[in-house]
Amino acid sequence: MKFAICGSIATDHLMTYQGRFADSLVPEELHKISVSFLVEDLQVRRGGIAANVAFGMAKLGHQPVLVGAVGEDFAAYESWLRRHGVDCDHLLVSEVRHTARFIVNTDEDMAQIASFYAGAMSEARNIELGPILDQVGGLELVLISPDDPQAMLRHSAECRSRGLSFAADPSQQLAFMDGASIRRLVDGASYLFTNDYEAALTESKTGWDSAEILRRVGTRVITKGKDGCSVVSAHAEQIDVAAAGPVTKVDPTGVGDGFRAGFLSGLAWGLSHERCAQLGSTVSSYVLATVGTQEYDFDRGAFLGRLRDCYGSAAAEEVEPHLGRDR
Ligand SMILES: Nc1ncnc2c1ncn2[C@@H]1O[C@H](COP(=O)(O)OP(=O)(O)OP(=O)(O)O)[C@@H](O)[C@H]1O
Ligand SMILES: [Mg+2]
Repeated sequence: MKFAICGSIATDHLMTYQGRFADSLVPEELHKISVSFLVEDLQVRRGGIAANVAFGMAKLGHQPVLVGAVGEDFAAYESWLRRHGVDCDHLLVSEVRHTARFIVNTDEDMAQIASFYAGAMSEARNIELGPILDQVGGLELVLISPDDPQAMLRHSAECRSRGLSFAADPSQQLAFMDGASIRRLVDGASYLFTNDYEAALTESKTGWDSAEILRRVGTRVITKGKDGCSVVSAHAEQIDVAAAGPVTKVDPTGVGDGFRAGFLSGLAWGLSHERCAQLGSTVSSYVLATVGTQEYDFDRGAFLGRLRDCYGSAAAEEVEPHLGRDR
């Protein structure tokens, strides 16, 4: 059975300005600001949390079902994802809005002027999981990652009513959601993914302490940056896994998504939570070492080699028969 990965799908447009924004701003005239910065460098990166997670799973040999809303401008990005093995047959394509886009201009002082256009993503609330479930013939797990907030709540409600197992991944949306919405999002989840800061934020916003959260969700997976991660369940001993290292830290964007891709891949293969966490950490080490969130690459041998170096031969041997062919 397949995994459905729901959430944002976006492109990032990153520009760099060879000067200082501040030199072009006149504080007394800001009420009628009209400035244009001539930039020499533009990089367009594929991103969006669901797309990053689905890409990572496909790298390991899965064919996850990507669930989200995009615009008609999505063709080139879609063919990239399909080429890597992501199932893009169930996307909602907006007739009027472009795919979500993050546009940021960074000056030589690292000052930034950014805008996020949600665009088609706001139509994700119109997505129903039922028809997708019928078409793919069953879903083993549904990941609900940051998206249009109404879509996130709809997906979790639908998972509960259809008896589908789901993983809640509220991440940055925690900052914008109120306690009642977060409670509705995570209640009944088989897994709750957060980093350690978000774990504390979940507790303070929901008013549920960690024991209460463990009564509501099956397993909590808490990532801690360079300090690795913990897997916590009410009825099992806590598992702590160190980060995969040493790793050259080039760009941390998307490490959390890479971690989820590895962890979910381990679940799909029926491996233990410890192996899942090791797989997650190994994928995130590749993300960390490259600029961009879907630019990393590895072949089977290299991936298994890194897994072995970090977590031992038993880990590599257990993963080896499952790991997909090189793409
Ligand atoms: N500096 C690091 N060195 C090695 N591994 C790291 C480092 N930072 C992150 N990782 C790996 O990535 C995993 C996820 O990292 P982190 O907890 O920072 O996620 P996050 O805060 O959700 O990141 P983001 O939202 O920016 O993608 C960690 O559990 C670890 O395995
Ligand atoms: Mg994160």
